[in-house]
Amino acid sequence: MSTSIESVMNEVRVFPPSDAFVAQANVSGMAGYQAMAQAAQTDYAGYWAKLAREHIVWRKPFTKVLDESRAPFYKWFEDGELNVSYNCLDKHLTTQPEKIALIFEADDGKVTKVTYRELHGRVSQFANALKSRAIKKGDRVIIYLPMSIEAVVAMQACARIGAIHSVVFGGFSSKSLNERIIDAQACAVITADGQLRGGKVMPLKHAVDEALALGGCDSVQSVIVYRRAGCEVQWNEKNNVWWHDLLNAQPTHCDPEWVGAEHPLFILYTSGSTGTPKGVQHSSGGYLLGTIASMQWVFDYKASDIFWCTADVGWITGHSYVAYGPLAVGATQVIFEGVPTYPDAGRFWKMIQDHKVTTFYTAPTAIRSLIKLGGDLPGKYNLSSLRLLGSVGEPINPEAWMWYYTVVGQSRCPIVDTWWQTETGCHMIAPLPGAVATKPGSCTLPLPGIMVDIVNESGDKVDDQHGGFLVIKRPFPSQIRTIWGDPERYKKSYFPDEMQGAYLAGDSAQRDADGYYWIMGRIDDVLKVSGHRLGTMEIESTLAANPLVAEAAVVGRPHDIKGEGIVAFVVLKGVRPQDAAAIKHIAEELRKWVGEKIGPIAKPDEIRFGDNLPKTRSGKIMRRLLRAIAKGEEITQDTSTLENPAILEQLKEVIK
Ligand code: WT7
Repeated sequence: MSTSIESVMNEVRVFPPSDAFVAQANVSGMAGYQAMAQAAQTDYAGYWAKLAREHIVWRKPFTKVLDESRAPFYKWFEDGELNVSYNCLDKHLTTQPEKIALIFEADDGKVTKVTYRELHGRVSQFANALKSRAIKKGDRVIIYLPMSIEAVVAMQACARIGAIHSVVFGGFSSKSLNERIIDAQACAVITADGQLRGGKVMPLKHAVDEALALGGCDSVQSVIVYRRAGCEVQWNEKNNVWWHDLLNAQPTHCDPEWVGAEHPLFILYTSGSTGTPKGVQHSSGGYLLGTIASMQWVFDYKASDIFWCTADVGWITGHSYVAYGPLAVGATQVIFEGVPTYPDAGRFWKMIQDHKVTTFYTAPTAIRSLIKLGGDLPGKYNLSSLRLLGSVGEPINPEAWMWYYTVVGQSRCPIVDTWWQTETGCHMIAPLPGAVATKPGSCTLPLPGIMVDIVNESGDKVDDQHGGFLVIKRPFPSQIRTIWGDPERYKKSYFPDEMQGAYLAGDSAQRDADGYYWIMGRIDDVLKVSGHRLGTMEIESTLAANPLVAEAAVVGRPHDIKGEGIVAFVVLKGVRPQDAAAIKHIAEELRKWVGEKIGPIAKPDEIRFGDNLPKTRSGKIMRRLLRAIAKGEEITQDTSTLENPAILEQLKEVIK
């Protein structure tokens, strides 16, 4: 067990919610929480069915709740019919058409507000535009857009016509985009000319052109381009079309396409332990229910809230808590185009002040970098509108937690540390803030109805205060349905035989004496860099594809701001260069290569070179040794099984 986790486990501070918070909470006090958890225990299907009837407008009500006959391919509410966009937009037209749905703040500070009525019109119009390009139910559409109203419109418009979107984060490279287009067999790509971040224009359409030029993309019939940055673009008359040209001719009414509850709402690619990303496929009904329930329970949503989740729509957090959850509950939310450090590190705090944000949800990496760049800056703004803070993406260290709590939340706002994954669709372990007292660094207790446990390699329960694998024992509505095009990989990754039918999350964790969960980190070869998931295998195979490289191994090491940093150990094809300048030059070239092939977030922080990698006699790379070397630790582990011990000395060498 890693020492940092043990020190976290020594955390003894407990922060119960204030009486005032409890009094107004959607779920008040532990009795409220326990009553719900008990209801789920007593009648699991009945518990979820009741919520699904309460929270979702069904075109055709479901009669079946959970079908486990094809496990682990679970079906929820299967014979029910709905439309997710209807539930996010039309549902509000009679009750609150003039309520602001989106407050968009651009990189340069310009603010645009959109009401539910307007958003409904824009989504319908764009849905018609998609139809005019012959895009229909079940077709896959890649969305490669910056944070914008248009990104939300594009996602909602796909949902409206039953097309399956796959959003690719704007920071991913043309190669990554190409792979996703091919895997999804997408018929359209929606993009922008460029994006604005931190006062700079960055081209986006260009990457789409490159992705298509890489080949294998014959499925793509349309490239729809939103003009955002005003930068120059190359134009292919064959299938390129401007967003505004396409939209102009379209009516603002579009009947939603009713789909079965299990109809795929979207595919979102994420890294796993092998070289290729997996297309996580989500459902319509179960997913929507998960986002709504967690908005109510974890974010304690109130009609008067101004909600702000800082995640990009390219990640699951931006799906569940920007594009779907907040709209489904009828919230007013802030979306932000820019970066937290521009024009200065007070940007988030200024935006909270200006828009009177009540609920603020961000990542530990952002919190840590803002502490570093201006820990006293929040004090310069009026943050009195805040009532709840959230954290997501990686464990939050108690020090950052305390700063967030005292400086940003002024010791008044509960912090919801939310553990979940691309695959789970919504929060799984997180405090219900008016019920569960928080402890810095713990994501606390499972949501009521989520059956979490900690088990050993054989899937047997381990005792409290012992580390083990985090599993979810019962299927739940918002979970992944399959990996797009690869059901076998779905079964193997998440439901390996040893786990006795439970969902294997891929994290290690332990439970303390109060039943609180503490996440320790990934058990597979997945890194969390600034909260983003990156497969070490993916980076390794990218490095190995470089003509200079014979072999590469990639490991993570703790990083003050990013949580985890990337260290690559590389064996070159030619002779290992000896002088520092040559080594630095090659390292820089390889970093650039990884940035181009995957995206800038995957660039190694450091690259070290050796004549070989430390291997066992059977040829297995000894990663634990590489992890120790990357951290600069003394090697105390057993190296007797090592084929080539001399290599360690080479790899320890740091080039400054
Ligand atoms: C992995 C999932 C959850 C949406 C964004 C990331 C880690 C996530 C926490 C947390 C400790 C966390 C886990 C998980 N993780 N939230 N609150 N505390 N670890 O989604 O990219 O699918 O990554 O992120 O390791 O397995 P993702």
